[in-house]
Amino acid sequence: MKSYTQLKIFLQAVLGLACFTIVSNSSAQTNLMVHPGQHTAQVSPTMWGIFFEDINFSADGGLYAELVKNRSFEFPNPLMGWKYKAKNGADASLLVVNRGEGSNQRFVTISSKKDTGDFVLSNEGFRGIGLKEGEIYNFSAMVRKGSGNLKIKVEAVSESGEVLGETSLAIAENAGWQTCHAQFKSNKTYPNAQLNVVFEGKGDVDVDMISLFPADTWKHRPNGLRADLVQKLADLHPGFMRFPGGCIVEGRDLANRYQWKKTIGNPADRQLIMNRWNVEFSYRSTPDYYQSFGLGFFEYFQLCEDIRASPLPILNCGMACEYNSAEVVSMNEIDPYIQDALDLIEFANGNTDTKWGKLRIALGHPAPFNLKMIGVGNEQWGEQYIPRYKAFVAAIKAKYPDIKLIASGGPDPDGERFEYLTKVMHHEKADLIDEHYYRSPDWFLSNAKRYDHYDHKSSHVFAGEYAAHTPDNLIKSSAVESHNNWGAALAEAAFMTGLERNADVVKMASYAPLFADVNAWQWRPDLIWFDNLNSVATPNYYVQQVFATHRGDYVVPILSDGKPLTGQDSLYSSATVDTVNNELIIKIVNASIGGKQVNLQIDGKRKWAKQAEWLQVSSADKMAFNSLTDPDVVKPTLNNTLKIGGKTTRLTLRGLSVNVIVIKAESQ
Ligand code: AHR
Repeated sequence: MKSYTQLKIFLQAVLGLACFTIVSNSSAQTNLMVHPGQHTAQVSPTMWGIFFEDINFSADGGLYAELVKNRSFEFPNPLMGWKYKAKNGADASLLVVNRGEGSNQRFVTISSKKDTGDFVLSNEGFRGIGLKEGEIYNFSAMVRKGSGNLKIKVEAVSESGEVLGETSLAIAENAGWQTCHAQFKSNKTYPNAQLNVVFEGKGDVDVDMISLFPADTWKHRPNGLRADLVQKLADLHPGFMRFPGGCIVEGRDLANRYQWKKTIGNPADRQLIMNRWNVEFSYRSTPDYYQSFGLGFFEYFQLCEDIRASPLPILNCGMACEYNSAEVVSMNEIDPYIQDALDLIEFANGNTDTKWGKLRIALGHPAPFNLKMIGVGNEQWGEQYIPRYKAFVAAIKAKYPDIKLIASGGPDPDGERFEYLTKVMHHEKADLIDEHYYRSPDWFLSNAKRYDHYDHKSSHVFAGEYAAHTPDNLIKSSAVESHNNWGAALAEAAFMTGLERNADVVKMASYAPLFADVNAWQWRPDLIWFDNLNSVATPNYYVQQVFATHRGDYVVPILSDGKPLTGQDSLYSSATVDTVNNELIIKIVNASIGGKQVNLQIDGKRKWAKQAEWLQVSSADKMAFNSLTDPDVVKPTLNNTLKIGGKTTRLTLRGLSVNVIVIKAESQ
């Protein structure tokens, strides 16, 4: 993907020239009039969502809590992540055996010729294994005992060999392949342990699917998801969850594409493939990045249900990544791709009379997952997309007319490819068009009015991937989290006021990407950074959070001199009402360094509480960021003392601040 990388670098450089214009302090006051009685648009419950892609070790090594890398020896190099050694005089060896069929082809055979000594098979984990003191860890392995009396011991050890927890495995005789389980408690918090499987005695044994999970997963589901990371998602209160990408949907070529049917059922049978980000960026090469699909489509739907997000699967539409091979399936061969989409809807929503609904029920989820929308392709562009998109739409709408379909708007928010696609998609009356914006902070500030003059009767917009990318030359810190700085988050907030103001056009929006491992990332900025033990919410996360938790259900005008605030005097604003909780919610972003005086008036006869909640996120430093070592540099603070009184409320907004003001109605 050389051209893709070059394009991104070029864009950053060009756009960066105009970035971060310093806005001088101004003593001018801004008069703002809000009209809570005039509902100009409905805010969709799905307005603020999240975008998950398995990039930056977000799934294996991240959200999926498995601690063993290459647990079933299916990486092309079957012993990647593993080491072995015969110790203390042992005469033992290891052989990688290939079954030659199925999706889980390989296992290892350990053969020991002597009673004395041990043979140690060690796994390095995902950049180490994180253990927490006092926590229980569940070990399991598929084992087939051969001749002799080999015993298996399991231990977690530090880099210096200190034992942090240990247990042994009971193996039944003559049982064929069996899954054996054991537990240990960690006696220390340690970020970088390794797992040793120790074979003692004489004989031989076959081993496969060597696995270690914390017992304390999300909702304590066995072999589940990392609890701290899911909690961060739940705390965002996302309206939807886009999954599984991103370019990962497309694959580098069609063989490398994401296929949901291969991600459900017994984890041992989910066929591993190379993660496309393994080889994408030579300067961030990650040769050990594969997809085990332990976090597959069933787990995804379950997660959406847990965090009350509407599922939004993005499916391959017969096109591989156009920055890579750009392979397409011929139109004569497209049916299986479309069938996959139809079957996914049946899997999510079907009842027991249907093949795929029955499978979901057998997997333990009798209730439907309530799937209402699907994306047809990711960043597709060009004429070749159109017949493929149309074939998907025709088949899906014929069977499921209520499912909303999202068309690609391509990889850029402007330019020839974008213009072409959006023209066609508006003509096709696409339900929604997926727009992606990876641009400088200044682009986001100047695009806060992007949708103010949009054709409000045409296709809706899904702001499917966006993040302000600060040009490298402005970033002074070498910390990986520093690209998620306050200046970028502030610009996103300004842009989001424009999305909210035009909520009749923009129905959904999601920041991208969601997660990144500080030790194994390929792409930044990202919403949440993590290592093996901890995670940190970025300033961008807090912007998403304050918008999503103060959504409101109708947009109301908030005007200065009769116009929306879209950057006049570096101020941006939007307002909504929450008709369930009877609240007026005002969002104002001050993108200038200096504080600003705002005189706020509320139009109409309705009475409002004398005191309001004022949530502020701010920092005097645009380059401020949160890190794993210093996680609370930029975060929301709540001020409950804002007095609303008389005709005009005078506010002094801090420089570089995002403000959410919530005023309760006193009566109807
Ligand atoms: O978010 C990272 C990548 O950016 C996504 O995979 C792709 O859709 C976009 O180019």
